Amino acid sequence: MAIEFVEFYIKLVTAILFVVLVAAWSIFSRERKGRLPPGPFPLPIIGNLHMLGKLPHRALAALSMKYGPLMSIRLGSTLTLVVSSPEMATEFLKTRDQIFASRAPSAATKHLTYNMSDVIFSPYGPYWRQMRRLCVSQLLNPKRLDYFRFIREEEVSAMIQVIVNSDDSRPLNISQTVSSLATAIICRMAFSRKYSDQDLRDFSSMVKESFLLFGTFNIADYIPYLHWMDLQGLNRRLRNNHKAQDYFLEKVIDEHVAHNDPNVPKDLVDVLLAEAADKDAEFQLSRDNIKAVLFDMLLGGSDTAPPIIEWAMSEVLKNPLVLTKLQHELEHVVGFGRIVCETDLPRLVYLQAVVKETLRLYPQGAFLFRHLSSEPCNVLGYEIPQNTRVLVNVWAIGRNPESWEDAGSFKPERFMEEVDSEVDANGDQNLGWLSFGAGRRRCPGQQLGTLMAEFAVAQLLHCFNWRVPLADMNEQNQELDMIERFNGITLPRAHQLFAITTPRLECIAHLK
Ligand code: HEM
Repeated sequence: MAIEFVEFYIKLVTAILFVVLVAAWSIFSRERKGRLPPGPFPLPIIGNLHMLGKLPHRALAALSMKYGPLMSIRLGSTLTLVVSSPEMATEFLKTRDQIFASRAPSAATKHLTYNMSDVIFSPYGPYWRQMRRLCVSQLLNPKRLDYFRFIREEEVSAMIQVIVNSDDSRPLNISQTVSSLATAIICRMAFSRKYSDQDLRDFSSMVKESFLLFGTFNIADYIPYLHWMDLQGLNRRLRNNHKAQDYFLEKVIDEHVAHNDPNVPKDLVDVLLAEAADKDAEFQLSRDNIKAVLFDMLLGGSDTAPPIIEWAMSEVLKNPLVLTKLQHELEHVVGFGRIVCETDLPRLVYLQAVVKETLRLYPQGAFLFRHLSSEPCNVLGYEIPQNTRVLVNVWAIGRNPESWEDAGSFKPERFMEEVDSEVDANGDQNLGWLSFGAGRRRCPGQQLGTLMAEFAVAQLLHCFNWRVPLADMNEQNQELDMIERFNGITLPRAHQLFAITTPRLECIAHLK
């Protein structure tokens, strides 16, 4: 009897506590609502985490249709603003760029970027500025990119050779063929090292896993007291990835230290080592700082261009008219007598439009890396507290029907007319095209990323004829499927892309 009474009593108290908690939470949320942008009602403890689903960019785009282009959500107890229109992106990335130029910390950013001492995730300030400047001056500015052109030409030719040597009785796996191209290029440019195919595949997987870990909505980031339970198994994956990354970067640095002539810095690693040895430098760089910056270059350089090449090839294969137009342009500018050179790219204007249109519909990042407010501020009458996270939905902005006519269709021609239109493909005037971000934290690797994607697509289409295997067509509409997968940050194809190729140039046929 006494035990039954105790059980009943405990249940009653728990029920009352739950009701009080929900009521208090609801009053608190309603009170905050007036001062914050509108948004869906958050549940206690988890907030709106349950609403993100497997494709959060689509789920949040659908919610923004109801609540508007500036929406507040709660991830756990953390306030996050979701930006889904060019006008709102302008508010955060241009008008109040400086206030929102920091990055939101997470278990992944702390683990994988040596406590956020890299460029991508480091807080806005003098250290970030100095590291970013070093990367641009040593690797990413137009002069250095020109200097490294031979590397990109050699690696793209090596990819063509792999296709020529492949078994032509079977469809070619395009996804696999292009997957480590960019890793090979960035390793040679930044570390002066040529790695084996197996090594490159391993680095590529390590980078993919890092992107996944950076972007996954980790419950422990939003409900910190659940960290120890590791409900999604992410802590273990973070530890394993960090171990592999650290081992690789230690080796890169050791090799450079062994062969370094401090008077003649040759690549980014040498320059960072020289900076670390300079007692008068503004920042005394530690070995961890060097590894953090080098890993950024691998991150930015590796898994960014290949998905663009994959999506561009998918759209080209799906749209025979686009393929014909591209191949005509290649015939006209390059001719049948030789393969494409990188210096041909400025004259391949339709190709450039195809890559821009690909980036609009399939941005490499569904969201920009999370921005963070460094002080309280007022945006459009709303009171935004310090440390508010901002999630810019690049995917939704690229498909916004108010910015783009026939927004869901692949129409590269829209970028051929951009001079007369409101839309600026560099993302400067109207932030409708945000594939590289905007403002202070805008991608410093835009030129390199675009060069790699344009060059690879041009070479593939010039050297070969392409056809989708019948088995890969959707049974209902006889079209190639264009379904994406949310990989934390990146949006690769859900299924790998296959095609049947035949040589188009005589000089290629002879390579076999
Ligand atoms: C086509 C390929 C690429 C795309 C689509 C791309 C896209 C982006 C985007 C969307 C951002 C975030 C901007 C923001 O949060 O506001 C970013 C940042 C960054 N990207 Fe790229 N990127 C590409 C290639 C590269 C390459 C090749 C590198 C370097 C090797 C690179 C290095 C970086 C760095 C260091 C940042 C952080 C900038 C900062 O926070 O100051 N990216 N990129």
